[in-house]
Amino acid sequence: MSEKKRPVILSGIRPTGRLHYGNYFGAIYHFLRLQEQEAERYYFIADYHALTTITEPKGIFEQTLDMLRTYIACGLDPAKSIVYRQSDLPCTAELTLLLGMITNIGHLERGTTYKDKFSQLEDNPKVEGNPLSYGLLGYPVLMAADILIVRADQVPVGDDQRQHVEMACDIAQKFNSRFGEVLHIPEAVSRNALRLPGLDGSSKMGKSDNNTLDLLDDPKTALKKIQGVPTTTDPLPLDTDSNEPEMVIPKMPPGVGVLYRLLHLLAPEDVYLDFLGKYRRGEKFYGMLKKTLAQYVAEFNAPIIEKFHAPENSDDFIKDFLRDNAKKVTPVALETVEGCREAIGIGHSLYRA
Ligand code: TYM
Repeated sequence: MSEKKRPVILSGIRPTGRLHYGNYFGAIYHFLRLQEQEAERYYFIADYHALTTITEPKGIFEQTLDMLRTYIACGLDPAKSIVYRQSDLPCTAELTLLLGMITNIGHLERGTTYKDKFSQLEDNPKVEGNPLSYGLLGYPVLMAADILIVRADQVPVGDDQRQHVEMACDIAQKFNSRFGEVLHIPEAVSRNALRLPGLDGSSKMGKSDNNTLDLLDDPKTALKKIQGVPTTTDPLPLDTDSNEPEMVIPKMPPGVGVLYRLLHLLAPEDVYLDFLGKYRRGEKFYGMLKKTLAQYVAEFNAPIIEKFHAPENSDDFIKDFLRDNAKKVTPVALETVEGCREAIGIGHSLYRA
């Protein structure tokens, strides 16, 4: 298969509600950064993946449109990237099937998403939502197909998706060692990838955990959420002179840590350092910290909210855009699928030209 000269970048987000700060700083921030580079960029809305957690069919399509609207509102330039809906590239499902033939169940059972759900159900068998489905077990195979189908080099994602990208590399390597060098192996996710904690102080901000700060939160909502962050635990000693967030934030009580993490992402360095000094001196300042942070959040969200509601981002524009982009990515994806069919021995499709 021909080598590409320009790096290929691919990433996806499930349309499961409004985008939060974890999505932004874990993924979208990098989409915007990479927008300035010479590259082929593919971003998609992972509506097939969403079916592993969504039980209510109503609204998935609308959420998909809203997701793309939010991408654009954040600054993703529709002219610089190919943004499509996963289900508009159905040959991804075909590649998932082929890759599934060489993927061990044991490998998939070690996937964190599956393991988390498994232990959740063990603790509470009556938990609401989808069961331990075949789709959930196969989640990393579908994700591998998403990545491999466009021959991605880089996959900008948050730390929570690191294992899934590693699994995609493993699956591709296994395929190639069996059937020849057909699939392109992507780069591993950086060790510095972000994992933004939740507003409840838990280790990850996540849509299903009800602990998110959202890009479309208005100032009042953001303030209320931030004021609800638990800060009752006494400050813990930092035991270091470093001001680096990686060095100090893990030593703080979890709720306080998330406030500092967000402040560091949003505010100028001197504001972060000023509040860090207050922490070190053991002053009483959490009320002021929360108010200051809420102001930065309001300022950050305002232009995104405005652009999200802009008339040019109409449903018709978004649908046309998705349709055009599905047409652009399809030939790239089919070339990979046809290559895999050939390598695996069933030969080229007889109905596709
Ligand atoms: P999803 O929809 O859960 O999250 C989308 C992106 O946001 C990042 N993210 C975070 N980053 C840092 N801290 C957090 N608390 C946080 N929460 C979410 C995720 O790492 C991700 O980059 N399986 C993927 C979607 C997907 C995909 C793919 C991604 C499907 N196929 C192929 C890349 C390549 C998911 O559920 O992301």
